[in-house]
Amino acid sequence: MSEPVTTPDDDQPLLIADGLSKNFGRLAACRDVSFSLHPGEVLAIVGESGSGKSTLLQLLSAQLAPSAGSVSYRMRDGVLRDLASLGEAERRFLFRTDWGYVHQDPAQGLRMAVSAGANVGERLMAIGWNHYGRIRDTATTWLERVEIDVGRIDDAPKTYSGGMRQRLQIARNLVTAPRLVFMDEPTGGLDVSVQARLLDLMRNLVSELNLAAIVVTHDLAVARLLSHRVMVMKGGRVIETGLTDQVLDDPREPYTQLLVSSILPP
Ligand SMILES: Nc1ncnc2c1ncn2[C@@H]1O[C@H](COP(=O)(O)OP(=O)(O)OP(=O)(O)O)[C@@H](O)[C@H]1O
Ligand SMILES: [Mg+2]
Repeated sequence: MSEPVTTPDDDQPLLIADGLSKNFGRLAACRDVSFSLHPGEVLAIVGESGSGKSTLLQLLSAQLAPSAGSVSYRMRDGVLRDLASLGEAERRFLFRTDWGYVHQDPAQGLRMAVSAGANVGERLMAIGWNHYGRIRDTATTWLERVEIDVGRIDDAPKTYSGGMRQRLQIARNLVTAPRLVFMDEPTGGLDVSVQARLLDLMRNLVSELNLAAIVVTHDLAVARLLSHRVMVMKGGRVIETGLTDQVLDDPREPYTQLLVSSILPP
């Protein structure tokens, strides 16, 4: 990587949400959400369809402006900044380097018509890498890490299977050594066996790279495998939060009990 990363003290939160709310007209899609996330911590946001999970993720990743409340993020220099106060260049820097965003639909996170190698290399060029050989070597290494046959490096993702696309999206996101990755239903739409392999891969990468991640999922198995902590949402509010095993094995709230017993539809 280009620059040594000065990691903040792990005792200090990486991201803090404070009283986050978002209204769409009269609909309160997200209501008064507060929590903090530490470096290396994986948080799952679960809840039924329409409960506000994706809205919250978009607020946290500065893609939506909150109606009330704030999100603060500890920049690489250790300074905590309100996302609303960031200039365009700082925001772009976060998206290019420090953050990753894995979309449910890989077509939203990849350029489907350019080669896999270019999809990964592009992120490096955006942060100033300009040596073709080095970019290609790094892209090759990342394809190997996400278990994509390196012989396919010059093929475009439109020729890839769903699982390969999702693994390529992960490589493209992780190549810049982000500290925080947002994921919205990263395994949705994949076959069960493909999901299992992807989850296993994500779990290993997250722990190897000490990545913090916020994963939106309606699949509790995903939360169970990947996350340290779970937040349960209903009607835009967080109704229960705690350590993943605690919440899933011994839920306090009746709604979470229903969710865990799979009585609620996904
Ligand atoms: N851009 C928007 N304009 C108006 N309403 C919106 C918008 N985005 C989301 N909503 C509404 O906000 C509520 C929460 O939606 P959101 O997409 O956050 O739910 P979700 O938990 O991600 O659901 P799913 O599991 O189906 O993806 C829903 O009632 C939705 O219709
Ligand atoms: Mg959603």
